[in-house]
Amino acid sequence: MAVRPVVIWPDDRLRQASVPVAAVDDSLRELFRDLTDSMYAENGLGIAALQLGDPRRMFIVEPKLAGRTENDPPVAFINPEVLWTSDETEDSEEGCLSFPDVYVKVDRPLRARVRAMGLDGTLFEMEGEGLLARCMLHENDHLTGKLLVDFVGPLKRQMIKKKMQKLKTAEEEDRA
Ligand code: NI
Repeated sequence: MAVRPVVIWPDDRLRQASVPVAAVDDSLRELFRDLTDSMYAENGLGIAALQLGDPRRMFIVEPKLAGRTENDPPVAFINPEVLWTSDETEDSEEGCLSFPDVYVKVDRPLRARVRAMGLDGTLFEMEGEGLLARCMLHENDHLTGKLLVDFVGPLKRQMIKKKMQKLKTAEEEDRA
């Protein structure tokens, strides 16, 4: 088990193209464990592999949000594909582990259906509404390099950049 540092924006690794996973192997199961540990360490609802600097097409979602119990492991979405989204949308505040303490209003489909491969190597589909739909679509955006700052205007983007730079400086001073 390993908590790995989450890549914070701006960082080119968050924009790199992700690569399809060929097979579920030990290396992928290790990535799943690292994603799980890192997500829980930061109290996230989901996290994408790119946020740990790993380009494999995979994200995970917190078990209770995904309809499991809290004792279950998070749900892995490997090579995910958004099959359908509702025309009805919902405008709600959204956070991201790559943007600590930043919240952005994002208008997203209220419902979404996603197909992915699970850790057991078989395909499954998950349909979600509200926060679950939002979470799956947000994490899926990561796999195409799309980020929260792409939903805001230039002014807010500049404000977020300043905030992230301040955070980085504070962390560097902490380490010094
Ligand atoms: Ni995110």
